[in-house]
Amino acid sequence: MNKQIIIDGEVVTYRPGQTLIQAARESGIYIPHLCYQPGYHAIGSCRVCMVKVNGRWASACTTLAAEGQVIDNRTLEVDAHRKQIVQMLFVEGNHYCPYCEKSGECDLQATAYELNMQEDHFQHLYPHRSLDTSHAEVWLDRDRCILCGLCVQASAEQDNKHLFTLGGRGTATQLLVNSSSGQLGETNISAADEAVAVCPVGALMKKQSIYSRRSGERTYDKTPISKLEFKA
Ligand code: SF4
Ligand code: FES
Repeated sequence: MNKQIIIDGEVVTYRPGQTLIQAARESGIYIPHLCYQPGYHAIGSCRVCMVKVNGRWASACTTLAAEGQVIDNRTLEVDAHRKQIVQMLFVEGNHYCPYCEKSGECDLQATAYELNMQEDHFQHLYPHRSLDTSHAEVWLDRDRCILCGLCVQASAEQDNKHLFTLGGRGTATQLLVNSSSGQLGETNISAADEAVAVCPVGALMKKQSIYSRRSGERTYDKTPISKLEFKA
């Protein structure tokens, strides 16, 4: 039997075992998120989906819906908190949206717009990260990687290739490629792999797809990320 929670004053039904983000999505309610994607296990790494559950912070992608929950999602306080998290993601990597090939198609950029982020606020770390263009079809630009782990899951579970892992600690954490040289060119990755498709930013990209749509015609030029998820 369906049960109920309240999200921003709206009654939302859920099935036992569903997380808050799953229940919200089924009711057409957008909870901002980056490392969660439908069909993937939630790993709760980005913290963009933080909500307040009965006054306490919780990540919507890893918290199970339960009777009696009253959730603040798109309140000024919660969105301000999320905006700070997104600002931190921007300064932790090297993101240059105006000339990024994923601009207009990037979930990080679109989420920043959704949260009305006007500036980066925090001091940039400008980390040294490597670019791997060794493969004919796919490149990996670690400057843009937000370490969401989606490609790790996709490559292992959907592509059956196990090409990626996250290695290192703290600010030195980076996406590693499973080949003897650590280069993509030595792997059997393909532009059609789900690991490439699922990357929410411009880190893993098909070489053939870059700048394929003009500014004004790109996915998020037309529809904000909060509405796009619920398009048929
Ligand atoms: Fe996530 Fe993309 Fe980085 Fe993989 S390459 S961890 S999908 S941001
Ligand atoms: Fe929940 Fe990233 S979407 S922590």
